[in-house]
Amino acid sequence: MKNNSQKPIVLEAKGLTKDFLVGDRRLSVIKGVSCSFVQGEFVSIMGPSGSGKSTLLYLLSGIEKPTSGQIYILGKDLLAMKPSQLSDLRANDISFVFQSYNLINHFTVYENVITPILIAKKRVDEDHVDKVLMSVGMFDFKNSLVSHLSGGEQQRVAIARALVTDPKIIFADEATGNLDSRSMVDVMSIFRRIANQKKITIIQVTHSERCAQFSDRVINLLDGKIRNISDIKKFL
Ligand SMILES: Nc1ncnc2c1ncn2[C@@H]1O[C@H](COP(=O)(O)OP(=O)(O)OP(=O)(O)O)[C@@H](O)[C@H]1O
Ligand SMILES: [Mg+2]
Repeated sequence: MKNNSQKPIVLEAKGLTKDFLVGDRRLSVIKGVSCSFVQGEFVSIMGPSGSGKSTLLYLLSGIEKPTSGQIYILGKDLLAMKPSQLSDLRANDISFVFQSYNLINHFTVYENVITPILIAKKRVDEDHVDKVLMSVGMFDFKNSLVSHLSGGEQQRVAIARALVTDPKIIFADEATGNLDSRSMVDVMSIFRRIANQKKITIIQVTHSERCAQFSDRVINLLDGKIRNISDIKKFL
C-alpha cells in the first residue's frame, strides 16, 4: 500500500451490503465490504465459489445496486447518478471484460472494437483503433470474423474493445476462465502493461493464483466479507 499513497483514489466503497430475495428468504451475499482502489493499480478479488466476488464487482461497477453502503467512482457518488450519468460513465470512464468475451460473432474484429465508440456516438479515430489493436497483438486480424478466432484471440479483441474508449477503470470477471495457460499469461501480461503504462485501474475477479500473481494486491473474500488483503510480492 505504501507505494500507492500518492496516487489518486479512483474508486471507493464503504460499508457495502447486498441482499437478494430468494422466494421468501433474504440471502445476505455482501456483508459490509469497504475497499478503495487507486489510479493504475491492478487488483485481484479472490475467494471460494459463492463468496460474492462477482456480486461485489457488479456493485463496484454500477451493474447492481447495493442494499446499503456508499460508492464513489472518479469522485462521484455512483448511487446518486441518474441513468444518463451512468450511461456517460459506461461510455467514457469504465469498461468490462467478461469470461465469455461477449463479442458479436458475425462482426469482424474491427467492427467489434469500434462498437463502444459508435454507442457513445463519437467519431472513430482509425489511427487510435489501429494502435489499440496493436497493443493487444490483434492488428493482423483486424478484418477477420471473430468467429474464426481462438478463445485467447477473442479475449484480446474483448480487451481492445474495453480499451478503445480510453477508460479509467476496467472490471474483469474471470477473464481467463475459459483460456489455456498460454492465453492466460497473454491476457494477464496485457492487463499488467495497461495498468503500468496507461495508468488504468484494473479490478479482476479470478480463481487462479497464477493470474493473481500479475496483480498488485489481492482482496480475499469469504462469505461476503473481506477476509484479508495481501500485497503481491513482485517476482520480476
Ligand atoms: N441475482 C441473484 N439472485 C439471488 N441470488 C444471487 C444472485 N446473484 C448472486 N446470488 C447468490 O449470491 C452468492 C454469491 O454469488 P456470486 O456470483 O457473487 O459468487 P462468486 O464468488 O462470484 O462465485 P463463483 O466463483 O462461482 O463465480 C451465491 O450464493 C449466489 O447464488
Ligand atoms: Mg463469479
